[in-house]
Amino acid sequence: MTRTALVTGGTRGIGAAISVALRDAGYKVAANYAGNDEAAQKFKAETGVAVYKWSVADYDACVEGIRKVEADLGPIGVLVNNAGITRDAMFHRMTREQWREVIDTNLSGLFNMTHPVWSGMRDRKFGRIVNISSINGQKGQAGQANYSAAKAGDLGFTKALAQEGARAGITVNAICPGYIATDMVMAVAEDVRAKIVAQIPVGRLGEAAEIARCVVFLASDEAGFITGSTLTANGGQYLA
Ligand code: CAA
Repeated sequence: MTRTALVTGGTRGIGAAISVALRDAGYKVAANYAGNDEAAQKFKAETGVAVYKWSVADYDACVEGIRKVEADLGPIGVLVNNAGITRDAMFHRMTREQWREVIDTNLSGLFNMTHPVWSGMRDRKFGRIVNISSINGQKGQAGQANYSAAKAGDLGFTKALAQEGARAGITVNAICPGYIATDMVMAVAEDVRAKIVAQIPVGRLGEAAEIARCVVFLASDEAGFITGSTLTANGGQYLA
């Protein structure tokens, strides 16, 4: 049976690599995105993956978007909560807006996306939820009180939901990528980034495909005994 996978933030960065890896593993894939139409259309043309636009920060938009994906591609068996944003600032300069935007997308986005698919997964007795957290949800990062709080919250969400889903055949796991060579990391000032790379024992940034391979594994039937776990992929930078 061909399963349907929905990847939020699935047209760029780590999400794009996840969408492609799941497509290559035989899933019907829907890649959600929030804003960058040009990148999404380019991604669709290059990969053939269907793209859908809505913001994961908007619950009603998630319900509507998921309804459309399911009408087009069938019930969602795999949900990858990957969409995330940064609004980095030292805390004494952080605005309420910077706090709110990051919490709404990176933490509430998981509620908004998972809640509408949960009942269907319970009814079908199968589901795979993979939440993309971050090394900075594990260790904290100066300049990211908002992001670190949201990403740590994602881990609590994962562990609670894993317990609820287990009897219904739903696994819920998190991946904590370290610093991966994406636009988000490249947006960090070059001198700051050089200092970060110096802290990574393998001596380089990670590749998006290295995170995508973790997702494909956690989504597979063979990973059915793994739930509530946090898979760390950070080049040895932080050993949680
Ligand atoms: N620890 C403690 N203090 C620090 C610090 C640190 N790591 N870094 C900077 N500071 C201090 C500075 O010493 C300075 O103090 P004084 O004012 O007393 O001199 C103060 O904070 C301001 O520092 P900056 O001049 O650097 O401030 P800025 O406003 O120019 O930049 C920043 C702030 C944008 C947060 C910048 O420091 C930055 O980009 N830091 C990196 C944050 C980061 O790692 N983001 C990850 C993005 S990628 C991602 O999030 C993906 C993922 O999951 C890994």
